[in-house]
Amino acid sequence: MIIGIIGSGAMGAGIAQVVAAAGHTVHLLDQNTAALQRAGQSIESNLNKLAEKGKITPEAAAASFRRLHLTEDITSFSDCGLVLEAIVEDLAVKQQLFREVEMLVPATCILASNTSSLSIASIAAACQQPERFIGIHFFNPAPLMQLVEVIPAVQTRPGLAEEVRDLVQRWGKLPVLTKDTPGFIVNRVARPFYGEAIRILEEGIADMATIDWAMTELGGFRMGPFALMDFIGHDVNYRVTESVFTSFFFDPRYKPSFTQKRLFEAGYYGRKSGRGFYDYREGAAQPEPTPDEALGRQVLHRILAMLINEAVDALALNVASKEDLELAMTKGVNYPKGLLAWADELGLPQVLQTLDALYEEYHEDRYRASPLLRRMVKSGHTFFQHESIGTH
Ligand code: NAI
Repeated sequence: MIIGIIGSGAMGAGIAQVVAAAGHTVHLLDQNTAALQRAGQSIESNLNKLAEKGKITPEAAAASFRRLHLTEDITSFSDCGLVLEAIVEDLAVKQQLFREVEMLVPATCILASNTSSLSIASIAAACQQPERFIGIHFFNPAPLMQLVEVIPAVQTRPGLAEEVRDLVQRWGKLPVLTKDTPGFIVNRVARPFYGEAIRILEEGIADMATIDWAMTELGGFRMGPFALMDFIGHDVNYRVTESVFTSFFFDPRYKPSFTQKRLFEAGYYGRKSGRGFYDYREGAAQPEPTPDEALGRQVLHRILAMLINEAVDALALNVASKEDLELAMTKGVNYPKGLLAWADELGLPQVLQTLDALYEEYHEDRYRASPLLRRMVKSGHTFFQHESIGTH
């Protein structure tokens, strides 16, 4: 199958590398000549590095690169079996693009978007044949991150999601199937990792260095929430938070914080701008955590209970299967454990108690426990462990 990728920025270039390495002929298109050249150079250099490290042979690297065709001419897409776009995150621009693409490609060609925050249904609606439209959402950097979310829209024809899942698997990736709901799996379930950490900071329960310490040292996360937000960039992370909140019809569970909004407004984007929560300028003093284990565990269990609640609620609303929810969080954002398995390990009654205590204290909808969690505690069931935990 010949694959067309539109948009040769961070994501498009990475995805083109993945599919070329998997053996497909790839047409990579961008309207910006400089971006296209940069993408070509970065893909070639990435493939060469893989060969130098012995991960692929030099012949395989050269063959992958030969399968890649850089183009500014969309008519070269006339023989594509799949066209995937990774252009600017703007609904009107994406819709216009697919109106043009659909006129050029064969009737059997699958159309796909890598959008993070728009609904797949809304982009598909611009097409004459929306039943061939689907979401294929990669993570950054695409060649390294294993997870790919496959998102059928309400218009997508039955069977296409399974075909695409098999195709993604043949690219050497781990596909998970998810509903066309805001944030799909990862960007929805991960929200409290940032939001609840900021809330704890705002209330002065712990400072950011201590919260980061608790999540990494006690929780086993690779990065603490503040270091991670600075790494992702507040321009990106704040926008995702705001878009998920708006798309969920302003459900208070996803409410963005003023703390992060102000960093965004100030241009304190994090590492890339030299300042975010932390100060990355040369010689800047770094705050030290207070390694108080009791405080650390309180912070960890509060954030973890909120994350688990999101995962349980996503399961309750059939956003994804148990297995795919676990894969998404461990492979998409490298969590040390799947959240449902972690819930089993902590004990579901314990998690529910943490949430109910927060609800009792604040009376905010943000802390409402998922009805599924409550039902499971009542029935004594667990997500994966077979034995009943026997609480009534
Ligand atoms: P980017 O800004 O790095 O690249 C976008 C590219 O698309 C640019 O080179 C631009 O010249 C080109 N472009 C814009 N409009 C075009 C058009 N009409 N025709 C042809 N080329 C056009 O953006 P990035 O970060 O690669 O994101 C692309 C898409 O992937 C967005 O929808 C984004 O939401 C999504 N995404 C981004 C992730 C990330 O971490 N950056 C992760 C997963 C998805």
